[in-house]
Parts: sequence; structure tokens; C-alpha cells
Amino acid sequence: MKAVVYEKYGQPDVLQFKEVAKPVPTEDEILIKIQAVSVNRSDWEGLIGKPFYARLGGLIRPRHHILGSDIAGRVEMVGRNNKDFHMGDEVFGDILVHLGGFAEYVCVRGRVIAQKPAGLTFEQAAAIPQAAVIALQGIRDKGRVQPGQQVLINGAGGGGGTFAVQLAKRYGAEVTGVDNTGKMDFLRSLGADHVIHYTRQDFTKNGNQYDLILDLIATRSVFAYRRALKPNGNYFTVGGSMATLFQILLLGSWIGKSAGKKIGVLAVQPNRKDLLFMAELCEAGKVVPVIDRRYPLSEVPEALRYLGEGHVRGKVVITMESQDKTQPDA
Ligand SMILES: NC(=O)c1ccc[n+]([C@@H]2O[C@H](COP(=O)([O-])OP(=O)(O)OC[C@H]3O[C@@H](n4cnc5c(N)ncnc54)[C@H](OP(=O)(O)O)[C@@H]3O)[C@@H](O)[C@H]2O)c1
Repeated sequence: MKAVVYEKYGQPDVLQFKEVAKPVPTEDEILIKIQAVSVNRSDWEGLIGKPFYARLGGLIRPRHHILGSDIAGRVEMVGRNNKDFHMGDEVFGDILVHLGGFAEYVCVRGRVIAQKPAGLTFEQAAAIPQAAVIALQGIRDKGRVQPGQQVLINGAGGGGGTFAVQLAKRYGAEVTGVDNTGKMDFLRSLGADHVIHYTRQDFTKNGNQYDLILDLIATRSVFAYRRALKPNGNYFTVGGSMATLFQILLLGSWIGKSAGKKIGVLAVQPNRKDLLFMAELCEAGKVVPVIDRRYPLSEVPEALRYLGEGHVRGKVVITMESQDKTQPDA
């Protein structure tokens, strides 16, 4: 099969589009013929090996040689112990734990894979898993957003952020989106009530306070986040610099508690129930999986470069060449 492979951390030019052995499922696995796979910041981090958590399991060289976690495709073979799926099923999910999505086929056990709703294209389905579940667990589960609350999403114009803005609006919040200057109109189009350019204004220093801050890209001190929270407010981050994540893990709960606030890291738990919840919202048109650009598999390096350079609005999706002609536009 064709796949995009890398042997060492680096910029997109370390990636090679080449022929590799087609995987064979074990008795517990299914073999999926991938139709679409989306690109996440976690792929970019896995490619360059930064922040340091991206090297867990592969300190010097990457442990997995094929990136790509948010897949959508058709089941082509089923291991005899796997009772959840049948040949021909259209499925999707987040395979972040073992990756392998930038390829024509992948084998997975399937616990985090679900049946693709019929009303979603493969491209739309591939745009949902990681980003939408981050947003759901941040806004609904950890954030417990209530109508009228003030919610700030930092990194609002990327994958997780575009879902988080839309969800927070659905739960009735007044939403502030923070991202780069070029994405302000885009954030308003998603429903953000207020927008902040991160290059022009520091949201922790403008005097405003929020009931919930969901951070996709944490870079400030724990004291700055505490300052930006209302009494009883919550701050959760899912990613960011190592220095900030360490500080939040070590001091967040203590510094927050002293002021009646919660400050912590959200460890996202991919699961089928949340995946389907978000996919059904998308199928019903209540939340939109925003696809900025599409690339063929051979152009994964360009897709990653586009994300790494900071242009993406929502998601970038890799579409298998043979499928270009058959899938309707998202
Ligand atoms: N905790 C967990 O369990 C878990 C699970 C999965 C993924 N993750 C992590 O979740 C993180 C977010 O992923 P994502 O897919 O939403 O990322 P993304 O699509 O790259 O979105 C990040 C957004 O933040 C913007 N940004 C960059 N620097 C910023 C700054 N200083 N202030 C405000 N915004 C800034 C980016 O814009 P530019 O265009 O300017 O760069 C981009 O629009 C990743 O780090 C990933 O590793 C965590």
C-alpha cells in the first residue's frame, strides 16, 4: 500500500510517500481501507517532536513511522474475535494511540471506532474525532457550561477550537475566541460574540474575567490564568508549551483552589459514545465540521506545512485520490 512514512523528527521534508507492506489484522483487529484522514496539531507535534510530550515512547526517533489519527473508511477485513464490525461497514474514529492514518489501510482494535452516520461524507467524518471530542469534554464535561456564562476559547480558530466555539454557543454561553489576526471574521462566523487577536492583546491582562477558559495552546503562567478567571471559574488546557503544562500540573490545583478556582490539564478520553454524540450533532447540522482545505495522500507534507505555518481555519483533510471523484463536497 501507499503511505507517508518518517524515520526521524523534523520538518515536513523528512516525510516520504512510498510503498509499504499492507497490514494484516490480528484476530482482535479490523482492517480499514481509509477514505479520508484529517490532520491534527498532534500530527504536527509528532512530526517535529515538540513539545517534549510528543516524544513519549520515542525519545530520539519516532516510535510510530506513520502519523495520522482521525480516520474514516470502510472495513475490509474483520479478525474473528472482533464482533463489533462487519466487512463493508463505514466507520470513523481517533486512533491517536497507535496512529497510522496517513496510509491506504490501517489495522485497529476498534474500541474507539464507530459506525459513520450515513448523512456525513467520509471527509466530514474524518474532520470530527479528536477535535470534536476535545471540545465536548472541555465544554460539556469539565466546563459544565451554563447559559449566560462567559467562556473564552484560546486557539479558537483551529481544530478543537472551532468545535468548542460552536458547542459553547449551543450551551448558551457568551463566547470569546482568541486566535491570530487573520481568523477574526472566521471566528465571528462560527458564532463568537467577541474576538481577540493573540498578537495584539493578552486576554489575561485586559481586565476581563471568564467562567471557563478552554485553552488549546497554553503558553502563560498559572497566575495569569487565575487572574483571568471569575470566582469559581475553571481553566483547562489540552496542549501547550512543556513549561506551562508542568506548571499547571504541579501548581494549578493549589494556586486555583486558594482563590476558589479550578486550574488543570484536561486529559481527553477518546470514546465511541462522545464521538457519536458529536457526529450526530454534525449530521443534524447543529455543529459544522469546518474543512479549510483538502489534499491527496501524496501531499501530506504540504498539508502539515500549511498547519505548521499557522494558516488553518478548522481542519485540513487528506482525501484518498481514488475517492476524489466519488465523494460529494463537504
Ligand atoms: N490533552 C489531551 O488529552 C489531548 C488529546 C489530543 C490532542 N491534544 C492537543 O490539543 C492541542 C490542540 O489541538 P488543535 O487540533 O485544536 O490545534 P490547532 O488546530 O493547531 O489549533 C490551534 C489554534 O491555536 C492558534 N494559536 C497558535 N498560537 C496561539 C497563541 N499563542 N494564542 C492563541 N492561539 C494560538 C493557532 O493559530 P495559528 O494559525 O496562529 O498557529 C490555531 O488556530 C494540540 O496541542 C494537541 O496535541 C491534547
